[in-house]
Amino acid sequence: MKIKSNCSLIIAMFLLPAAVGFLTANAQPSPSATTNAPREKLTMDFGWRFGFGHATDSSKDFDPAPASGTFSYFAKAGVGAGAAAANFDDRGWRTLDLPHDWAVEVPFSNRGSGSHGYKAIGKNFPEASIGWYRKSFSVPASDLGKHIIIEFDGVFRDSQVWVNGFYLGRESSGYTSFSYDLTDYLNYGGNNVISVRVDASLEEGWFYEGAGIYRHVWLTKTAPLHVAHWGTFVTTEVKGKSAGVTARVTVNNAATNNASFTIEQTILDADGKTISSDKTKQLSLKPGATGEFSSLLKVSNPQLWSLETPYLHTLVTKIRKGNAVVDQYETPFGIRTIRWDANEGFFLNGKRVELMGTCCHQDHAGVGAAVPDELNVFRIAQLKKMGSNALRTSHNPPTPELLDACDRMGMLVMDENREYGINPQELGQLERLILRDRNHPSVIIWSLGNEEWSIEGSEKGTRVTQTMQTFAHRLDPTRLCTVAISGGWGNGSSVSIDVMGFNYFTHGDGRDTGNDRYHAKFPDKPSVGSEDASTFSTRGIYVEDRDHQHLTAYDTNKPDWGITAEESWSHYAARPYVAGLFQWTGFDYRGEETPFGWPAISSQFGILDVCGFPKDNFYYYQAWWSGHPVLHLLPHWNWAGKEGQEILVWAQSNCEEVELLLNGQSQGRKVMKKNSHLEWNVKYAPGTLLARGYNGGKEIITDKVETTGDPAAVQLTPHRAAIKADREDVSVITVQVNDAQGRVVATAGNEISFQITGPGKIIGVGNGDPSSHEPDKFVEKVGMTPITWRQLAVDSIENRPEVAFDFDDSGWQNAFGGGGGRRGGNAAPAQTNVYRGSFELSEVTGAIVSFQLRSVGEQQWIYLNGKPIAQNVGRNNTGHQFDLDPAAARRSDAARQLRAHRERND
Ligand code: GAL
Repeated sequence: MKIKSNCSLIIAMFLLPAAVGFLTANAQPSPSATTNAPREKLTMDFGWRFGFGHATDSSKDFDPAPASGTFSYFAKAGVGAGAAAANFDDRGWRTLDLPHDWAVEVPFSNRGSGSHGYKAIGKNFPEASIGWYRKSFSVPASDLGKHIIIEFDGVFRDSQVWVNGFYLGRESSGYTSFSYDLTDYLNYGGNNVISVRVDASLEEGWFYEGAGIYRHVWLTKTAPLHVAHWGTFVTTEVKGKSAGVTARVTVNNAATNNASFTIEQTILDADGKTISSDKTKQLSLKPGATGEFSSLLKVSNPQLWSLETPYLHTLVTKIRKGNAVVDQYETPFGIRTIRWDANEGFFLNGKRVELMGTCCHQDHAGVGAAVPDELNVFRIAQLKKMGSNALRTSHNPPTPELLDACDRMGMLVMDENREYGINPQELGQLERLILRDRNHPSVIIWSLGNEEWSIEGSEKGTRVTQTMQTFAHRLDPTRLCTVAISGGWGNGSSVSIDVMGFNYFTHGDGRDTGNDRYHAKFPDKPSVGSEDASTFSTRGIYVEDRDHQHLTAYDTNKPDWGITAEESWSHYAARPYVAGLFQWTGFDYRGEETPFGWPAISSQFGILDVCGFPKDNFYYYQAWWSGHPVLHLLPHWNWAGKEGQEILVWAQSNCEEVELLLNGQSQGRKVMKKNSHLEWNVKYAPGTLLARGYNGGKEIITDKVETTGDPAAVQLTPHRAAIKADREDVSVITVQVNDAQGRVVATAGNEISFQITGPGKIIGVGNGDPSSHEPDKFVEKVGMTPITWRQLAVDSIENRPEVAFDFDDSGWQNAFGGGGGRRGGNAAPAQTNVYRGSFELSEVTGAIVSFQLRSVGEQQWIYLNGKPIAQNVGRNNTGHQFDLDPAAARRSDAARQLRAHRERND
């Protein structure tokens, strides 16, 4: 795979190791599964088959209602047709593991949607907008009697799912997690097939959203009497030196008889030590019934969950029937208090915390929306390095594993809903968001939506917001709601919402005074800058280059609704009644290619680029958010040809004073204004630009940029040197081009090829260039070559001369009804037959060529050009596959001659 970085020098790639047993198709325990527990949660991420269907031509969509068939999908139970059928032959489809985003794999096109990054999918590309996934998995006979569900963390979008041809349901949302009960439809002690049809023709958002099963899939097995899906709700109340923990649990009795049981609730500390427990009296549930039960536990001297110490407890819920534990369910949670105040902002554990946040989409270089868990960890760690303490999951429910990481790493979350409204579908999505996420200590507020322009300033907005909010409070009385409002402040949604969400302070009446006017009108309402800035910049660029859609990385570029980083932070830092802000955006993302159109394909709003490399504004925020000394100089110092010309130099720093020196000569020592930066105009001369930062008159930090030599070496730096061989773990490798002295050459634009040996896999590359059309991925192509068959009845299998390459079969019948022709071909086969098939392969270096066979008899002998491939192969309804030895192939001119001979004699 090749990638050329024409503006930057750093390329990220991810390694995904292949584990032993790569080809097994069975569900496998997830890393977190406890093997002896009655409940099992198994990953279903591995070994899927994938093929494109068609959005407008059902014959290319595996024909769900073929003319020859009697039933379509919905006519009879268990007869899913086409690719939904259990016995559909998907062996010609690509094999892949989840998470998978096919949008990132297709090329760019100016007929694609700009808001989605000009990928060749969507309504103009019906042939690339429907993806079918199929996975076979076995279920042991001993599972009969268990309750088994399949859970999808998220599929983009409009998915329909079948198991063994049984229709399970449809989920239109591309972001909501959903599950189906498989219990009755499974083959116990046999093979099972899940089929998923995904329709990404329509967009839900105005940003890159990916396509396909881009999040994890799980198979969960429990006893019939079990803790319901998302069935626990842990709330905590801290009073003095102790905490009251209310553990609510919803229990479902899927058995056909009454269940009598007790519930045992135990709280473990982070070391797994029991610190509190409670047991209910005898309880009962009728067959099919669901009941809610609650226990109150006490924790003395609790270790609180905080940003500095994100301490997690675990609630272990056991359901006992007599002495037997029939279900065990673990809920990680945190003990902490949160409070929103109209005058003082947000409080965590009684202490004011300024929210220094970013808005982030789920999109990263190389992988698109299919972000591996460890890559989410990498992204959060980058944001934390900047001093950020909060993240808004704009504009949709995140993948649940992102919230797990925020819990563990100490990152506060504004958890956002997607569709705004009160119909059952919309409220259903909000309900699933809250039920799924309400145990996460990192989640501090629900965001009901974003910029609902048509109603946010009107009375309808007041009503809809109120209804959604009341609904949310019923599901979670411990958290308030906000909505990100871009206009009409003082009316509409901003009247009924718990916590006012200001989207862009410039949107308020009077620009700079909009927040203050709102605060004066609603003095009792807390507020937060739900979105701000939208500053745009290209990493590593310091001279605007519109031909390449590159902007400078000085903090000066913004759209007409936007604000520079410095203007934005200075504005909110001066208003402590606002709880803080969430900057648009943490990372660049594909789509919204503002301010350019095609051929730009990516946004430039990120404080970090799409690979996660910091742009210079990163250091502005780090200076004023992180609390430790920061000094960062820009631009680079490779300006050959500009000798003697003035170059604008900035220092992002929180030092009281900064002195700049060029080749040892002072360019002036300047005093830093709070929440600002410093500038010098420096006449360029090659050499070293050095900055010294002072506090209290003492030098405490330096930074330098140097004129480098030409590119001489490539340096690779993994973000983690070892990764687990679990087919999910990743390492982000930074590739940088250095000069002979090992200094990064900031202006290098070399083309770099990547290759890997060993069990790892490169799962994607990127260079952060917002107008690069180079592919993110190497995608394995699977091509099907049809074989035309002829058939001859014979009386024995011994020493058949017909297996030879040049045997003359021109007098034979066409086989399997194929080929038509004057001899027909549907005659009933005799006891023993020879079938001869001819095919031609185009030459593809390195390709694996395999022959796929559905059994044509009880025993089969297979030859390629006269050489045996397999002997005495028994009947198998799911088919056989044999890899062919390229050495056994014939040159194509020989095959062509043979075909011509056949045709001449026909
Ligand atoms: C906001 C919107 C974001 C993004 C941003 C770009 O108004 O909420 O989703 O479009 O503008 O500046």
